[in-house]
Amino acid sequence: MNEIIHKAEQFAKEFFLNDSSGHDWYHTDRVRKTALKLAKEENADVFICEMAALLHDVADEKMNDSEAAGLEKVRKWLAKHNEDEKQNLHIINIISSMSFKGGNSKGVETVEGKVVQDADRLDAIGAIGIARTFAYSGAKGQAMYDPTIPVRTDMTKEQYRNEKSSAINHFYEKLFKLKDLLNTRSAKQLAEEKHAFMVEFVTTFLDEWEQK
Ligand code: ADP
Ligand code: NI
Repeated sequence: MNEIIHKAEQFAKEFFLNDSSGHDWYHTDRVRKTALKLAKEENADVFICEMAALLHDVADEKMNDSEAAGLEKVRKWLAKHNEDEKQNLHIINIISSMSFKGGNSKGVETVEGKVVQDADRLDAIGAIGIARTFAYSGAKGQAMYDPTIPVRTDMTKEQYRNEKSSAINHFYEKLFKLKDLLNTRSAKQLAEEKHAFMVEFVTTFLDEWEQK
């Protein structure tokens, strides 16, 4: 394995020890594997995709004092470990522009950015996406479902992070929208089955809730 990739892997692994916000090392590892697969299919630069995937959540604002502080941490790490400034800038640009902002992606410009954003979003849907949502809700002290909380589909990321919600509501706030926000053909194909599985899950959950 490339030496820098190996170091980035170690950096991310150490960073995520003991996290319960849905951003553990295994999420990063899945995003990296999916990014590599998409990169090959989309003819993207494999090194850039793998590095951005490995580092994308180290900069997450939930894990840092602010988004800017998180990005600065990654920027410093890259400057210390990789001499190619152009590559480092590309990686930082991908990480800073890929997060989901309540329906509008900030516009990930390069094919590598599109690939890594898609890989991250694919991990938020399907069986793993369902599990992450319930784990995150539990860690935040939210109910798995609360019929008194109205379902909203127009929430921004800020809102669904800060306002009272439930795991089931999060499917409508974000997860059901992700399939149509994907950038690449390869990711759209992979999303079909995962999306259908989530719809089936929520439908069955609500049927059981209503004792139908
Ligand atoms: P990402 O790393 O994909 O940007 P987030 O940081 O928004 O995702 O959230 C991490 C995980 O927690 C994802 O699986 C996401 O769907 C889930 N999650 C985020 N916000 C909520 C919420 N308000 N309720 C339940 N799950 C959430
Ligand atoms: Ni992520």
